[in-house]
Amino acid sequence: MSHDEFPTDHPAVVTCGLPYANGDLHVGHLRTYVAGDALSRGLRRIGQQTAFVCGSDMHGTPVAVNAAEDGVEPREFALEYHERYAETFPQFNIEFDNYGHTDDETNTELTQEFVRSWVDGDHVHEKEIEVAWDTEEDQPLPDRFVEGTCPYCGEHARGDECDEGCQRHLEPGDIEDPVSTITGNPAQYRTREHKFLRLADFQEYLQGFLDRIEGTDNAQNQPREWIDGELQDLCITRDMDWGIDYPAGADEADTSEELVLYVWVDAPIEYVASTKQYAERVGTDEYDWEQVWKIDGDAEHGTEWDEEWTDDSGDIVHVIGRDIIQHHAVFWPAMLRGAGYNEPRSILATGFVGIDGKALSTSRNRAVWADEYLDAGFHPDLFRYYIATGAGLETDVDFSWDRLAERVNGELVGNLGNFVNRALLFAHRNYDGTPDVDVSDDVRDRIEATLDAFEAAVRNYDIRSLAELATELSDYGNEYIQRTEPWHLLDDEPEAAAQVIRDCVQIAKAVAIVMQPVLPGKAERLWGQLGEAGSVADVSLSTALEAPPETFDEPDQLFAQIDDDHIVELNEELRERVEDASDDDGDDESPDTAALEPLETERIGFEDFENVDMRVGEIVSAESVEDADKLLQLAVDIGYEVRQVVAGLAELHAVDDLPGTRVILLANMEQATIFGVESNGMVLAAGDEADLLTTHDDAPVGTRVK
Ligand code: 2FM
Ligand code: ZN
Repeated sequence: MSHDEFPTDHPAVVTCGLPYANGDLHVGHLRTYVAGDALSRGLRRIGQQTAFVCGSDMHGTPVAVNAAEDGVEPREFALEYHERYAETFPQFNIEFDNYGHTDDETNTELTQEFVRSWVDGDHVHEKEIEVAWDTEEDQPLPDRFVEGTCPYCGEHARGDECDEGCQRHLEPGDIEDPVSTITGNPAQYRTREHKFLRLADFQEYLQGFLDRIEGTDNAQNQPREWIDGELQDLCITRDMDWGIDYPAGADEADTSEELVLYVWVDAPIEYVASTKQYAERVGTDEYDWEQVWKIDGDAEHGTEWDEEWTDDSGDIVHVIGRDIIQHHAVFWPAMLRGAGYNEPRSILATGFVGIDGKALSTSRNRAVWADEYLDAGFHPDLFRYYIATGAGLETDVDFSWDRLAERVNGELVGNLGNFVNRALLFAHRNYDGTPDVDVSDDVRDRIEATLDAFEAAVRNYDIRSLAELATELSDYGNEYIQRTEPWHLLDDEPEAAAQVIRDCVQIAKAVAIVMQPVLPGKAERLWGQLGEAGSVADVSLSTALEAPPETFDEPDQLFAQIDDDHIVELNEELRERVEDASDDDGDDESPDTAALEPLETERIGFEDFENVDMRVGEIVSAESVEDADKLLQLAVDIGYEVRQVVAGLAELHAVDDLPGTRVILLANMEQATIFGVESNGMVLAAGDEADLLTTHDDAPVGTRVK
């Protein structure tokens, strides 16, 4: 089945994953919100009625644990972050139509209604399970109050997710060797009664759903594996005070008074609640939230799907981080279907953001914080442009101040800003505005091609291509102006000069329109420089071909060059911060011997060393390994051959930085298959940060290390 092409004649909603209201926002968070914001602006531009909604995720242990650390009540703690987020997003030109939170009345009511529907549809049952317990504090240890070993991949994990390993969702009782995060003591397992949503009821439905879903490949493919075997029940309650109460009297076997709903029950329902709040504000005649979210029809609480429902319902697009694909592509559609709600049309899962080639780590303070970026005085659109271009949505990307400066100075100042300024300045000085001739056919065709590409990028959810259209067009404009040199034509060929400038002003207008989803603030300013009335956000795509105003004022520069000195300062601050955090950790980069692994006391003979065949190699290519967030598949040239090696470098090195790097390869390492990929050797690296071993001079590739 395929969905109607955008723009459809139904309303759409674009949502972004709700941030936990438990800490400062950083560039890693912002990537997802910039993508969601750009997509909703793009959809509106092609004529799709679109609401863009989000809210703060206030419940659950992510908030309770941090609130307890601060000695504050969870509600007070979460509300403070909620207010902060609500202020920060617009500062990045991320403009939600509604930004709610999960603890408000709308969400509480809707959540309890969802649960009642599941109970009515007989999808909820109660059973006894083992939950982790802190015996010293005599309290249960839900989710992040317990840590241990992931039963699937053996990595260290939190109680409800394998955050350092395979990223799987973990059910209460799954985690091995549980330890309380409150006291640090080993936890015991105790028997408790909890409520479960029987996901297996939706297994067949979910298979069909995954065939219909649009969006990034990771969101379409990874969940197939998770729904291959019989789906485990989802525990929907927790032994906690903080959260939305399990609805009283919802079922007969009611042992629910002390139970609250699991945070992943009420969090996605906030997507619906936030849309409803928006509709109630603008009027349900203006925006019909029920058409988007609800299914009209008799079989409302079934496990079936009727393809005809999509003919009349709206379009739901979720933009999320790739760590929460399972929640959105498996649990959430089942939750919706069980309550008689419409299913998502698409899920776009963004890759992670690294810092200076290493994984972003809030505990190590290796992060660029939202406030820090703004305090540095940079316009929000520069960040938006940087993060939206250069890599596809699902690829991990790297943020560095150096690269930001390089890209801004080269692409925005040198290309886009330079073109529009040259064109408008020349036009203003010589014609007082737009020369009075028609735009040439070539330029019209070029702009039309850009507008087609704009529509295609929005329809394919291709934010990167969408974001790159403006600089591609200004590149064309620069080349045109450079080739024709209108300043030399003014005296002898005034008509030719007027034609070039007329064309360039039209190109500048088209640039303003196509840049707006990603660079909304700058687009507005360019619109003003063109002497256009109103907001560039309100015009249709075809306006790009309408004549610009006859007169406009002298333009100023749209973008300013970023100084090297400023970048040096910012790098220094970041370095100091990471160092300070490492000192606090006892994880210094030049550790004292107490922090080092003890030396092996057992000696080996030279013949043992001779058995170790280490070679100088050069990384030829690096790519991620499906479903393994930490791993990269490398091709390493060792002179005789190119070896395929799987290495745990993904979170510590940027994929793009690795090709061309000289490394030392343990060439006679046993072959192994890791996450389905053959590994034929081992790349040597030092320490937790995987500092890659290399050569001091330039011993040729293939040289044996002795
Ligand atoms: O993983 C997280 O950060 C969650 N707060 C995302 C919730 S998204 C949604 F479904 F509510
Ligand atoms: Zn795992």
